[in-house]
Amino acid sequence: MKHFLDIHTTDAADLRQMIDMGQKMKSARNGRPKGTPDDEQPLKGHMVALIFEKPSTRTRVSFDVGVRQMGGETMVLSGREMQLGHGETIADTARVLSRYVDLIMIRTFEEATLQEMAEHATVPVINGLTNRTHPCQIMADIMTYEEHRGPIADKKVVWCGDGNNVFASFAHAAGQFGFDLTFTGPETLDPERAWIDWAAAKGRPITIDRDPHRAVAGADLVVTDTWVSMHDPESAKERRHNQLRAYQVNEDLMSKAKPESLFMHCLPAHRNDEATSAVMDGPHSVIFDEAENRLHAQKAIMRWCLGK
Ligand code: CP
Repeated sequence: MKHFLDIHTTDAADLRQMIDMGQKMKSARNGRPKGTPDDEQPLKGHMVALIFEKPSTRTRVSFDVGVRQMGGETMVLSGREMQLGHGETIADTARVLSRYVDLIMIRTFEEATLQEMAEHATVPVINGLTNRTHPCQIMADIMTYEEHRGPIADKKVVWCGDGNNVFASFAHAAGQFGFDLTFTGPETLDPERAWIDWAAAKGRPITIDRDPHRAVAGADLVVTDTWVSMHDPESAKERRHNQLRAYQVNEDLMSKAKPESLFMHCLPAHRNDEATSAVMDGPHSVIFDEAENRLHAQKAIMRWCLGK
């Protein structure tokens, strides 16, 4: 069973194969209308369940379109409307869904929910985000960097702000794709110790630098994310803004990075909080390519899961 649960638990050679496959499928579409099916139809006759326990724009639409382009069909389910939200166990839900569909993608809160779904499903399960990680996003980000600048290996990537679930998957990618990762943010919002230790054990120790200008110096890629994640309480908002204001990605901060550096944000963004519109719409920004590449990278992930 080939689940895609996280970047650090997937073989590095398989990750590379998925990125290359995503790029190949993107090129093969060659600017055709979005609704045109791919020439190859590897998911023909396959049904995919997309479960959302949290809101989504990119993940929902990119998975749905990706399955259709590959000849398959989807059903989009909200956790609240399923029996899952009314007391049925995750294990039973996994067993039942496995009788109807060929693949399950789930966006949920607790990592334990994802793990339990994967443990009891008899079809592959894909992590569409948990409170701890967001691997599909970072696969799209690696694809996007390499599309613009070539191999990401040994490049300097700097994360500004909150050491959240998206950062966690960047830490995993640093170990698997072999790039240098720096975290710059307040100590109170440091990444989980487990991820820092994991990257160090893989030979890619994460640099932590509280000074954003020093951290960004010479960066090939600067990345940020919202200051308040979906699982953070609304009451944390003001405190977080105060803690993170110094880590805003603005033109002054970007000027410290390499002239050919790229800027990424997985979106949705709060413009002029974590990043200014001048940066988001500026010459370094590839934020909409990242969003597009969710589609292509995830198509490759689904093919890998199904052995197609
Ligand atoms: N980046 C991302 O996962 O976007 P959505 O929350 O819109 O799916």
